[in-house]
Amino acid sequence: MGSRREIRFLLNGDEVRLTEVGAEDMALDFLRLARRLTGTKEGCAEGDCGACTVLVGRLAEGDLVYEPVNACIRPLATLDGCAVVTVEHLAGAGGGLHPVQQAMVAHHGSQCGFCTPGIVMALAALRLSTPAPTDAQIVTALQGNLCRCTGYAPILRAARAMAGFGDPAADPLETGRADTRARLAALADGARAEVARAGSRAILPADVDDLAALLDQHPEATIVAGATDVGLWVTKALRPISPAIFIGHLAELRRIETEGSALRIGAAASYAETQGALAAAFPHLSAYWDRIGGPQVRAAGTLGGNIANGSPIGDTPPALIALGAEVTLRRGAAHRTRPLEDFFLDYGTQDRAPGEFVESLRVPLADPATRHAAYKISKRRDEDISALAAGFAVTVEDGTITDARLAFGGMAGIPKRAAHAEAALVGRPWAEATLLAAAAELPRDFTPLTDWRASADYRMRVARNLFRRFWLDHAPGPREPRLEMA
Ligand code: FES
Ligand code: FES
Repeated sequence: MGSRREIRFLLNGDEVRLTEVGAEDMALDFLRLARRLTGTKEGCAEGDCGACTVLVGRLAEGDLVYEPVNACIRPLATLDGCAVVTVEHLAGAGGGLHPVQQAMVAHHGSQCGFCTPGIVMALAALRLSTPAPTDAQIVTALQGNLCRCTGYAPILRAARAMAGFGDPAADPLETGRADTRARLAALADGARAEVARAGSRAILPADVDDLAALLDQHPEATIVAGATDVGLWVTKALRPISPAIFIGHLAELRRIETEGSALRIGAAASYAETQGALAAAFPHLSAYWDRIGGPQVRAAGTLGGNIANGSPIGDTPPALIALGAEVTLRRGAAHRTRPLEDFFLDYGTQDRAPGEFVESLRVPLADPATRHAAYKISKRRDEDISALAAGFAVTVEDGTITDARLAFGGMAGIPKRAAHAEAALVGRPWAEATLLAAAAELPRDFTPLTDWRASADYRMRVARNLFRRFWLDHAPGPREPRLEMA
């Protein structure tokens, strides 16, 4: 294993090599301040508004994948080995406006223009993956972009019309794909990269063994995967994170595979990467995953990160605990696996020793007799943090509940199972009355807090109501018509 003291990436087709990069340096500042690529805007600096959206291309199993990314919370060091495309580099087949830009002009999709480059990049990413999108796909693609002026209708009209502006195969990013892939492959030397600026160090391990060795030497290091949370420590709390060890590029940690009767998911697999595999095994998770951030956040944020940071309102732990997921931790060459719910010890405290890292997650595949649900309650439908999240898995055999796993986030200082409510289900008939009786047990399981996201009373009331919703979602017979929000 070699090492180098620089990061290398492609920026709008040109190779960039940087040696002076700190752990806290973000891609957006480099683009705007060092390269004067000011088409990429800064709105919120926390991954919410999408004004800073750029495309980041990376090699995934030999293929070149372009994803929309929030440059404001993307650590610059993590661009190593990637191909970055900013709005300045978008072009149509003949070198003029890109088809998305043409559609935005034709349909008056821009007013003050501040959000427009981000929206154009989000739609350009959609056009690369889905040249003729449905309305639902367009709305999902724009979840991570806010516009304060146009009212969205012209933007949606432009998005619907973009397929009519030129052949997607003639997009320069498509015609240049083989060349970019070859250039990125040439950059992938498998070496450890370490850069620093003003005493702040950023390290990209060569592989997982190198990561384990580095953490042994630097147990105090900040482990950063997608940076959708850690990025805000930097941009909002101005918190130093050096030395930072970045792990998002490690292919071994992004692997998703079936192992016997379980799904094994590497800790650095993104929400976007896990959505297909999880939804194939657990269809109820498809819509739930769409409620995690927007496409930019789902492309960057990781399952391992969402677990390791131990937030009581992380989106994935309740759903995964309900599925019986286990987490595997590694320190040096030693591994240990434990039920996910036992990883969360207390508010802000997880069962992770210094030098140890979350390596993977194991999710047992579904038993056909089990009814599942995952619910997220937030003030805003898209791109909001949960006030409450829940995962239910209830096994019914011959009309009797034989097993129940009910996990909640936002009801305690950690994601937690509802032991009394579970006990009230097992051995009882599968019936609405049984579920409502279990819901009445919740005050014995939780004493939720009041904060600015929700009051304690609201949280308890909603949590209880979710039992009724679970019944309505799974009750035999025709489903009652109702407003579908999730
Ligand atoms: Fe708002 Fe980056 S500036 S998401
Ligand atoms: Fe002004 Fe979108 S056009 S914020």
